[in-house]
Amino acid sequence: MVTRWGIAGFGWVARDYMAPAILASGGRVVAVADPSEHAQESARRLGAEVFDDLGAMTASLDIDALYVATPNHLHRPVFDQAVRAGLPTLCEKPLAGTLADAAAMVESATGLRAPCGTAFDQRHHPAHRTLKEHLRAGAIGTPTAVRIVYGCWVGPDWSDRNWRADPEAAGGGAAIDLALHGLDLTQYLLDDELALLTMVVQKHVHAYPVEDGAMLVGRFGGGVLLSLHVSYNCPEALPRRRLEVVGTSGSISAIDTMGQTRGGRLIRHCGATGRSIDIEFDSSRCPFLGQVEAFAAAVRGEPHDYDLSRDLRLMRLFDRSYQEARAWL
Ligand SMILES: NC(=O)c1ccc[n+]([C@@H]2O[C@H](COP(=O)([O-])OP(=O)(O)OC[C@H]3O[C@@H](n4cnc5c(N)ncnc54)[C@H](O)[C@@H]3O)[C@@H](O)[C@H]2O)c1
Repeated sequence: MVTRWGIAGFGWVARDYMAPAILASGGRVVAVADPSEHAQESARRLGAEVFDDLGAMTASLDIDALYVATPNHLHRPVFDQAVRAGLPTLCEKPLAGTLADAAAMVESATGLRAPCGTAFDQRHHPAHRTLKEHLRAGAIGTPTAVRIVYGCWVGPDWSDRNWRADPEAAGGGAAIDLALHGLDLTQYLLDDELALLTMVVQKHVHAYPVEDGAMLVGRFGGGVLLSLHVSYNCPEALPRRRLEVVGTSGSISAIDTMGQTRGGRLIRHCGATGRSIDIEFDSSRCPFLGQVEAFAAAVRGEPHDYDLSRDLRLMRLFDRSYQEARAWL
């Protein structure tokens, strides 16, 4: 069955990553809702019908799945409308810019038979799936810690209307934009949930009103420690996308795998000899392709791991430490 996708919010991530992944999966982008003329033009080039808003889209045609990629503060109104229409809905991270909105969204989806979830595409990067298989097979003994660096450069002129630098629209800065990727990915890799989380944030380089860096420290239910540095103030030529899982008999590093693109490197370091070897994985597939296939399978009624309640628990833990951290800015 060809999955007929609708997309609400056809900006950077939808146009450059999600739509190509839908086409690569054999699906179709049949409709796009976005008020921007520029976004509508891009969508027409894909052969999609275009609408100014989701209401007009759902009133005029059937779709199998909806992907929401509006700015963060507009996730909730679009998501709620989709849920009222009974649509399977995959919503970009963060689920919302505020915990209150995220909780209301999860509440509104309770009891809905259609699958709904947060678009944590990093779960679907082939390097991360291979890494998880190695952890399960005991390749590094007992995991003790996960260390992540995930940074980029978001200057004040990053886009025409840089909603990421607007506290109302984004819900915050580098922390809410980037950290949830690493937190969810580690939950996936370890098959465990974070139990404790604390953070400090900085407004250090850029003049905009949201934080441009954050350092998070946590512990999982099973005892594994986490450190996570996210930033909007890291030059892009520096090593800035690295994840390392350390264990009692070795470690595995994932280099340049976090992010939207395919490829990167996976390296196993032996705890006895210190030797390092590359681990093979499928470098032809980007994380969005796996994400599209997984959600399409969920729509067809196949088993899946989309779980808004889990995502809300993570948002709650994140939000508590985020509020405290911002009080100290
Ligand atoms: N998973 C990832 O790797 C990843 C990467 C980038 C962005 N994101 C997330 O995706 C979302 C969008 O980010 P972006 O960088 O593509 O932003 P963007 O600004 O490039 O695109 C947002 C689009 O939403 C449209 N829009 C605004 N209001 C709307 C409405 N009411 N209905 C429909 N469309 C509306 C805008 O016109 C714009 O085209 C954010 O939540 C962001 O956090 C995720």
